Amino acid sequence: MTTVITGASKGIGLELAKQLIAMNKNVISCARSDGFTFLDLERQSSIYALRDELLDTPINLLVCNAGVFLDKGESINSGYPSIKWEKTFSVNVTSVFLLIQCLLPNIIKAKGKIAIISSQMGSQSKANGGSYIYRASKAAVLNLGRNLASDLKKSGVAVGIYHPGWVKTDMGGEQADISAAESAKGLLKRFDSLSLAKTGCFENWNGKTHPL
Ligand SMILES: NC(=O)c1ccc[n+]([C@@H]2O[C@H](COP(=O)([O-])OP(=O)(O)OC[C@H]3O[C@@H](n4cnc5c(N)ncnc54)[C@H](OP(=O)(O)O)[C@@H]3O)[C@@H](O)[C@H]2O)c1
Repeated sequence: MTTVITGASKGIGLELAKQLIAMNKNVISCARSDGFTFLDLERQSSIYALRDELLDTPINLLVCNAGVFLDKGESINSGYPSIKWEKTFSVNVTSVFLLIQCLLPNIIKAKGKIAIISSQMGSQSKANGGSYIYRASKAAVLNLGRNLASDLKKSGVAVGIYHPGWVKTDMGGEQADISAAESAKGLLKRFDSLSLAKTGCFENWNGKTHPL
């Protein structure tokens, strides 16, 4: 059982990796920092290098967890510069597609699964305004996951999309609802229960179905 996790240097990704390792699972923890399998999601060449490194390695679970939230508190009058749109979409959306595309042969080989960490902020029915860039990126990756689920079903690959909760990490902040350990524990149960019957699901960390 091999799991590949992006954004494993801290926060939810680090906790997912720790908990899987504690269960004696084989984890390929990807990040930009020392001590991890190197992956810079803003660079296509880095994604291709990981593809080449993992050639022929069956992947049972790919967790697309890495993300950025760069537009907290931006003003609609003068904020939301295009550079933030570009960087956010590069990490939160484009790289998710490219990585899945590159590792698909490995995932199909294992009849594996793909978990995409989106957010409740990407939900169309919870459109509370603000943070337009982050919200649009998480809506896009939710849409991407649901369309991949349709296409990959015939290859035996299930795709789940998840809201990890409001989590105490650098991104979520100290005032958030739950710890990274709680979120990761819940998410791992969700990944376990993901099957072709449930492919395309959008679920909360605690197992509740999330409105699209
Ligand atoms: N925390 C929450 O309340 C919350 C709520 C909803 C959804 N989410 C989603 O959950 C996921 C994890 O969030 P988190 O709270 O754990 O955030 P975090 O603590 O800020 O960690 C984000 C991770 O993404 C990595 N990352 C960012 N840009 C990258 C790049 N260009 N290449 C490779 N890795 C990159 C970071 O690595 P570096 O250290 O190298 O930057 C870090 O490991 C994200 O997709 C986020 O949008 C979080």
